[in-house]
Amino acid sequence: MNDAPVGVFDSGVGGLSVLREIRQQLPNESLLYVADSGYVPYGEKSPEQIRQRSRAIADFLLGQGAKTLVVACNTATAAAVNDLRSLYDLPIIGMEPAVKPAALATRSGIVGVLATTGTLQSAKFAALLDRFAGSVKVITQPCPGLVELIEQGELQGPRIEVLLRGFTAPLLAAGCDTLILGCTHYPFIRGVLQHLLPAEVNLIDTGAAVARHLHGRLADANLLAAGPSVAERFWTSGNVEQMRNVLPVLWGHDAKVEWLPV
Ligand code: SIN
Repeated sequence: MNDAPVGVFDSGVGGLSVLREIRQQLPNESLLYVADSGYVPYGEKSPEQIRQRSRAIADFLLGQGAKTLVVACNTATAAAVNDLRSLYDLPIIGMEPAVKPAALATRSGIVGVLATTGTLQSAKFAALLDRFAGSVKVITQPCPGLVELIEQGELQGPRIEVLLRGFTAPLLAAGCDTLILGCTHYPFIRGVLQHLLPAEVNLIDTGAAVARHLHGRLADANLLAAGPSVAERFWTSGNVEQMRNVLPVLWGHDAKVEWLPV
C-alpha cells in the first residue's frame, strides 16, 4: 500500500477526461493534475519541445511526491513516453489511439482516426498500425483548431460543429463506421460528434482502458492507496482563471487551481 499521489499531465485540460476515469476506478487515490495550457497545443510542436516540457512536468510531479505518472496526452505519449521511461524508475502509463479495439469492432473494415498531426506522424502510431490494423483500412484525420476551442470550454455550438463536419466528411465518404478519438481532449465533444454522425458510427476512446491499466500496474507494484484520505490538486502553466472556469464542466466541480512554476 502507498498513499503517495498519482501524477497526471496533459498539454491542457483534455487529460481531465482520463482523470475522471481514474477517479471513478481508483477512488482511494490522491491525484495531481498538470495542464500545460501555456504551451498547448502540443500537436503542432516538435517532438524535442514536447520532450522538454514533459521532463519539466515529470520533475515537478515527482517533486510533489508522485508514485507514478500518467501521460494523459496522445501527442506527449508519442513524443516523450520512452524518454520519460528511460529517465525515471517508476510506472509511467501513456495513451495510444485505440487501433486494436477499433479494428476488432469495425464491420465495414474502414476505421477513422481523429488526432493531432504530432500523433499521426509519430513512429509510435506507425508501429501501432503495423501491429493491429491487419486488413482494416485506417484513414487518419488531423484536427487543427479543435483543441484550442475545447481549452476555452467551448464544447458545443457552430464553431465546433463546422470543424467536426469538415473533419468527418471524408471519413464518412470513405465508408468509415468506427471512429477513434485519438486525443484526450476529444471525449469532451463526444456528444456533439455522436449527434452529427450517423447512429451506426461507433466512437472509441481509451480513457477507461488507461485507468484500468493504471489500476493493474499499481496493484502489481503493491502501490495501491489504502485511502480514505483522498485529495486532488490542479496546476496550469496557462491562465489560472480560465482553468478554474472550465473545471466545473470538465471535471464536475470547482477546485482550486495553482500556477505551475516550471
Ligand atoms: C494537443 O495538445 O495538441 C493535443 C493533445 C493530445 O494529443 O492529447
